[in-house]
Amino acid sequence: MIASDPTLIDPPAPNGAASRAAWRALRRDRSLLTALSAVHAEMGDVFSLPLPGFSPVVLVGPAAARFVMLGPEGDLLWRFEKDPVARLLRHGVLVEDGAAHDALRTLMTPALHRRMIDAEVATMAHCVDARLDTWPSDGHVDALDAMRAIALAVLTETLFGVDIAPDLERLWRVILRTLAYISPGAWIVWPDAPRPGYGRALRAMDGYLHRLIAQRRAADRGGGPARDDLLGVLVHSDLSDDLIRDQLLTMLIAGHDTATALLSWALVALGQDQDIQARARAEVRAVLGGAAPTAESSARLPYLEQVIKETLRLYPPIHVGNRRAARDLAFQGHRIPAGTRVLFSIFLTHRHPAHWSDPDRFDPDRFDAATRSAPEPFTYLPFGGGPRFCIGTAMARVEARVVLARLLQRFEWSLEPGRRITLRMGATLEPGGRGWLRVRGG
Ligand code: HEM
Repeated sequence: MIASDPTLIDPPAPNGAASRAAWRALRRDRSLLTALSAVHAEMGDVFSLPLPGFSPVVLVGPAAARFVMLGPEGDLLWRFEKDPVARLLRHGVLVEDGAAHDALRTLMTPALHRRMIDAEVATMAHCVDARLDTWPSDGHVDALDAMRAIALAVLTETLFGVDIAPDLERLWRVILRTLAYISPGAWIVWPDAPRPGYGRALRAMDGYLHRLIAQRRAADRGGGPARDDLLGVLVHSDLSDDLIRDQLLTMLIAGHDTATALLSWALVALGQDQDIQARARAEVRAVLGGAAPTAESSARLPYLEQVIKETLRLYPPIHVGNRRAARDLAFQGHRIPAGTRVLFSIFLTHRHPAHWSDPDRFDPDRFDAATRSAPEPFTYLPFGGGPRFCIGTAMARVEARVVLARLLQRFEWSLEPGRRITLRMGATLEPGGRGWLRVRGG
């Protein structure tokens, strides 16, 4: 019996040195993530965070990745009924477990297959150009807002077959409010905390998604060509409209906010290092000239690929895997009772000094397959692993290449001097302090 096994110990809470280091990091960097790094440095790969009403166990490193991502089915579950993400996405694939999860995943996987995504590269390039056409030829752009607008357009065009542009102004605040609802906040220690304004945003979002479903059904009835994009797959399945809404919202949130974070961090990282930006641009110009990227040409940009991988290492948009122990478990001599919230830190694993040299440095060359060996297994998991491996991986990777290649072709950019970029935990890990870019091009 794990509960009474005398050889097991409880995961330790931060000691005095760890707590002091965390406070210092918090004051210095204004980021919970660097505070967590300080605790990890003192406490090692297994520790608890005993907060009132919220006492997760935090696990770090490759053994923990295997334990969380590849453990026996049913040991660690995803759904926390009272978490905002489950309240928002209801029965979306991301928050379902067991057979319901597997059935939804099987249904939707073909629509996100690399072959389907490659067929959408021209659409993606068009979405990027439409947004870049609005940028100043010499002026300022907010990286996060600019990348969100692109990511939303790409996602809705490629997966739902709709142009979000006419609705974007109206939906922008709705989407931000929805993201704020699932971002870390008071709900962590007070799950029933009032969330003013959220109900109205949710109604607006639901109205939009139900309209998309109704329009597609009407187009199908009108004898238009049946489309096999994600929306098409869903409306031709036996899911109810409410269940379809849950999957559409899941994809909209999980698919665009992660891409927004990745692209913004790439802009920030390249804005901070002009040599790396120039090298990436030289490669793009050598391979593409001025032509829009295609599925084939965008796959021939190895240095850009390294930049994307390194961005995902230092700034993983999903920086933590969140699970609930379904029964008493043990990990590396530690007791994890049923019901415990288990957080696997992708962020800390990606910066683990035992597995990465000079871990905090942005160095795309560490992913140069010709000169460096591949990362050790389970030390690099920007898209997770095991049965809950990101279903949108192919889309995210192709989209990042296409957007960044087009950006490098058309613009040069640098960060506004003196602006401090922080690691902000929103719904994803995003650049805080707003990454204002000085852009030149056209
Ligand atoms: C840079 C972009 C992205 C990153 C870094 C990312 C990362 C991740 C990670 C780490 C997970 C696993 C979470 C866990 O195990 O707890 C995940 C799952 C998921 N992702 Fe992504 N993702 C990205 C883009 C996308 C896109 C474009 C879509 C959809 C179009 C998407 C949809 C999902 C869904 C639905 C899941 C849940 C899968 C399941 O539970 O079976 N993601 N993602």
